[in-house]
Amino acid sequence: MNLGEAINGAVAQPVRRRTPASARPALDRPALDSRLMEPVGPVPFNRIFLTGEERSSLASVCEGGNVATDGRASARAIEVLKSRLGLRHVLLTPSCTLALEAMPRVLGIGYGDEVIMPSFTFCSTANAFLLAGAKPVFVDVRSDTLTMDEEAIEAAITPKTKAICVVHYAGVCSDLDRIAEIAARHGIPMVEDAAQGVGAYYKDRPLGGIGDLGAYSFHHTKNLVAGEGGALTINNPALDDLACNYRDKGTNRRQFFRGQVDKYTWVSPGSSLAMSEIVAAYLAPQLEAMDLITALRGAAYNYYAQGLRRLARKGWLTLPTIPSYARSNYHIFHIMLESQETRNRLLDFLRACNVQATTHFVPLHSAPMGVAHCRTAGALPVTEHSANCMLRLPLFADISRGEQDKVVEAIRTFFLG
Ligand SMILES: Cc1ncc(COP(=O)(O)O)c(C=O)c1O
Repeated sequence: MNLGEAINGAVAQPVRRRTPASARPALDRPALDSRLMEPVGPVPFNRIFLTGEERSSLASVCEGGNVATDGRASARAIEVLKSRLGLRHVLLTPSCTLALEAMPRVLGIGYGDEVIMPSFTFCSTANAFLLAGAKPVFVDVRSDTLTMDEEAIEAAITPKTKAICVVHYAGVCSDLDRIAEIAARHGIPMVEDAAQGVGAYYKDRPLGGIGDLGAYSFHHTKNLVAGEGGALTINNPALDDLACNYRDKGTNRRQFFRGQVDKYTWVSPGSSLAMSEIVAAYLAPQLEAMDLITALRGAAYNYYAQGLRRLARKGWLTLPTIPSYARSNYHIFHIMLESQETRNRLLDFLRACNVQATTHFVPLHSAPMGVAHCRTAGALPVTEHSANCMLRLPLFADISRGEQDKVVEAIRTFFLG
């Protein structure tokens, strides 16, 4: 797929637009094409992609009178998530971290309980369950997807295990049918940390919409951004009221607005997890541009894969893999080097070339909190190797071919001189 096909294919999707095309300069095709051809300076790791509608969307919320929660902007963002991804129930939250923190509260997980998760993840995955009093139990990841190794789960399960939390990495996932089957056999829920998974799929199902609960991130480093922002998806109808009550400070406000109770009151422990209308106003146009952004990132991802293929064939590095059951959102393009020493030297070399590549997670089982408060189930060799040898390359929707050529050329020069 070339860039033109990517853009045209994406624009052909049924995107609901609120402003005329003339008011959307960033999505104007010639403007976008010329941005992709701009001369090359330093290549940043990330650059926010503006759809051109954020400003008018924010203005209409400011002028509309409701800048609190649950207004038109939130409804618009939720509607896009539901209609594009087929999700049944979504609550917008101030961050993915807070959506994850709701999970043990909604599921009744607490002191003495254990939750299985990969060590190769962000600390928010573990904090969410630790804060509720439960113990994270770390298992290894697969070397192709860097997501939970399905084979490692059974050995980590004990009578204390109360959930399996999968983490989708870079927009791809494990074999979720297999993990769901293990969870069902043990009578425990599977939940998804889909911080990096918005707009990606397992078979024909959206990541974040498969486990009993899922959590998305709209942090400014993600594909679709709102500064800070997230969402909790509720895919098990039995958890609807519990999730809404928890979000609404432990009150049954939702039932009140539906006319199911005549006044709302404090019914459970809870927090304040609604997204502000101001944040939702920025987020909604980003979500509406999901297909375009995914297509642009996909074209850039494939361009890197093509540019680095020869080095991969010669064994200098390993390219990322997307399993046949997965449809990626192309959140990350990473390469794997043969040793930590080579990875660090390449990282320094790229920095000297003004290319901002970066490493990723410090495995949680090796972090001070992981050592002191969590359990590690067996050895985690793939996690350790991946953390030591991985490099993420700059990837964003409007990265230019010149910028990508500069990255690829620098990597070639490092290996071939
Ligand atoms: C796997 C994973 N989980 C959770 C988070 C936290 O997301 P947020 O910054 O929206 O709280 C991140 C953020 O990078 C992440 O990568």
